[in-house]
Amino acid sequence: MSNSVQKEINRKNAFMDHLRKLYSSGDASQWPKPVLDPESIPSFAEIGHLPETPFPEDNPYSAEKELLGRTLFFDPRLSKSNQIACASCHDPELGWCDSRTFSFGHNRQLGTRNAMSILNVAYARSLFWDGRSRTLEEQSQMPIQDEKEMGEHIDVAAGKISKIKGYEMLFHKAFGDKSVTKDRISKAIAVFERTVKSTPGKFDLFIDGKSDAYTNDELMGLHLFRTKAQCINCHNSGYFSNNRFENIGTSLMGEKGEDLGRYLVTKNPEDAGRFRVPGLREISRTGPWMHNGSMKTLTEVIRFYSRGNPEHSQKRATLHNGIALRSEKSGMVRMLELSDEEIYQMEAFLRTLKSEPQDITVPELPE
Ligand code: HEC
Ligand code: HEC
Repeated sequence: MSNSVQKEINRKNAFMDHLRKLYSSGDASQWPKPVLDPESIPSFAEIGHLPETPFPEDNPYSAEKELLGRTLFFDPRLSKSNQIACASCHDPELGWCDSRTFSFGHNRQLGTRNAMSILNVAYARSLFWDGRSRTLEEQSQMPIQDEKEMGEHIDVAAGKISKIKGYEMLFHKAFGDKSVTKDRISKAIAVFERTVKSTPGKFDLFIDGKSDAYTNDELMGLHLFRTKAQCINCHNSGYFSNNRFENIGTSLMGEKGEDLGRYLVTKNPEDAGRFRVPGLREISRTGPWMHNGSMKTLTEVIRFYSRGNPEHSQKRATLHNGIALRSEKSGMVRMLELSDEEIYQMEAFLRTLKSEPQDITVPELPE
């Protein structure tokens, strides 16, 4: 081996050793500075562990509510056909979503958005791809009533549950008496959902000091994520999302499959084409990706960002109910020119955000 090649290898190894030491020091203040755009700074929080699960004051945790909520989550009798449970589209074995582009609901009708995983949903500050629901308590009634999902009136659903003898004890234990109300159903489901979360995985171990938990590729991927590739502008905090709405140029505006995203909720033209920034923990288990499930591999997602999504073929404008709208992609999505090796490293890092699934026993349905 020539001298200069050996020198180059030594230099590279020393750099990787240095990075490894910083990132696995157990102290994020020692990490290299993240590369941030000014507009992301106000909402920036460093990536790291998930904090304690937050429970709202008016719906605190109890094991009894969790059990009731879990039972309801798996119970298809909340649907009109008695065939579709929350778990049909949010299946624990499929990363708590359904691995389909779009989900089948009532009468096998196809929805128009990719089912989101409920993993770590306790950390989402608004729900759905467009943020149209603010709390899990409010959200849980929506799929029951959705014509294309479970297709049942919530009062009818509550009535059906109240006629099932085996539920009496569960409601009694959770709420102090056996009466079944839609409010109690929502609260119990929400409590259960907040308990569905990632366990500490490879990433958590590595940053806590297990310095050999990461390969060099995974380590380099983490570094790229925070620096050159600037994913951390939007995917940050322990949840890997800033919980904001951003336009990365995926709305297919003016084309078949157009989805105006956040605009449909706020009617603010600036929101046309914005979607909620999804968290990235467990990302390798929840494909296909994006609000419309249009990306089938993580490599495809990373290549899309690397090109800065130039949106060539898209018209990027539309007329919606007589209002002219344009899709303004975020300035934080730009050409990154990642090499094939860097794309590989980024994917290797994203795959380390997976953790050992929690032990979820599917409850026996009450009779
Ligand atoms: C027919 C499939 C289907 C069924 C049944 C279903 N969901 Fe969903 N769920 C989806 C889809 C699709 C989305 C994304 C929809 C959107 O953004 O417009 C979603 C989104 C969610 C979210 C938002 C997650 C986030 O990060 O914002 C939660 C929470 C959720 N569902 C809970 C439930 C609960 C609770 C039930 C049962 C009462 C249920 N779902 C039934 C398909 C389904
Ligand atoms: C400007 C903010 C922003 C930046 C920067 C950004 N993302 Fe995203 N990301 C989003 C939004 C918004 C979505 C959802 C878009 C949609 O559903 O159409 C998303 C979706 C994703 C998804 C799919 C998630 C899912 O559940 O389907 C992955 C994976 C992802 N981003 C990874 C990355 C990586 C890797 C980088 C850096 C190369 C990055 N993102 C940079 C905002 C951003």
